Amino acid sequence: MSAFQQRVFSGVQPTGNLHLGNYLGAIKRFVELQDSHDCIYCVVDLHAITQDRAVWGGPEQLAASTREVTAAFLAAGIDHTRHIVFNQSRVSGHAELAWIFNCVARIGWLNRMTQFKEKAGKNRENASVGLYAYPNLMAADILVYRGTHVPVGDDQKQHLELARDIAQKFNIDFADSIAAKGHGDAFFPLPEPLIAGAATRVMSLRDGARKMSKSEASDMSRINLSDDADQIAAKIRKARTDPEALPSEVDGLEDRPEAANLVGIYAALAETDVDQVLREHGGAQFSTFKPALAELCIEKLGPLTAEMRRLNGDPGHIDEVLRAGGERARTIAAETMDAVRDIIGLLR
Ligand code: AMP
Ligand code: TRP
Repeated sequence: MSAFQQRVFSGVQPTGNLHLGNYLGAIKRFVELQDSHDCIYCVVDLHAITQDRAVWGGPEQLAASTREVTAAFLAAGIDHTRHIVFNQSRVSGHAELAWIFNCVARIGWLNRMTQFKEKAGKNRENASVGLYAYPNLMAADILVYRGTHVPVGDDQKQHLELARDIAQKFNIDFADSIAAKGHGDAFFPLPEPLIAGAATRVMSLRDGARKMSKSEASDMSRINLSDDADQIAAKIRKARTDPEALPSEVDGLEDRPEAANLVGIYAALAETDVDQVLREHGGAQFSTFKPALAELCIEKLGPLTAEMRRLNGDPGHIDEVLRAGGERARTIAAETMDAVRDIIGLLR
């Protein structure tokens, strides 16, 4: 296998209500990777429109949500001068490579995607073709930059496996041409998911069996990155739990999904692990653990929320970040697409 330059790529959809799961599972990890890697962080607007207009809210809402996710990236500490921050639709290479991948991926592979089944629900005949092909576009997002590492939450694992399958099939199907055009024995890297830490799957505060999500009807189920201190405190106070005290060992969290979720959130916010949290808080009742968690959450999210608010008041700056990032991204994507055209035999 050829050696590929390490490059991090990840994306977040502009579909409103960024929440603690997005932060701990994705955005916080994006920030941590900046010191060791070249990173590209993308607001995936073309993914947002795979669902019904009512879900993403229409043109004005889409533009506002795109700026809001960008503001969250910057407020969390992503350095847009050292790394690339932009919105997907600015760089046509994503959609072009997605078409090529529509011709590489097999229908049988896409039929296994659980996220499509969940999002399409019972009325599958009426889901958009875009929702079905969504994982191919996601593979194109990563591979148009020949991305090698992809920080995501646990729910994206299956999509990453598909991206690897697509990269591998392309490399095999065109092996002769890839070698003949001087690209060695593989053109695309097999991108690795980076899913790690204490909060790769943050659950709803109302139901420990469901994941915290942007689309859940009850606002009490999630902590939004736009919530103020009072809202955060109230949501944690009302979070569903069981009547037992916290255990001192991890084993004691088995079959206690709500307790495990709150301890995981605490560990991720405190940048420690679950063992350490239980060493400190084992034996505590929720009446004492919840206020400690609320305080930690407010301490960590407060500055982020304030900076997001400030940036939201300066859309000119956000637009300039996206424009400049888009230009830099386009240069890299264009190189990949030229090579892909040569490999396939598409004249240019
Ligand atoms: P999305 O909002 O679906 O675009 O997700 C953006 C990122 O946040 C992806 O990397 C997801 O895996 C991650 N994510 C979304 N919800 C959660 C959650 N409840 N827990 C952990 N990570 C999440
Ligand atoms: N599908 C991802 C999600 O819903 C978002 C996404 C789109 C993404 N393209 C990506 C994540 C590429 C990582 C890499 O969370």
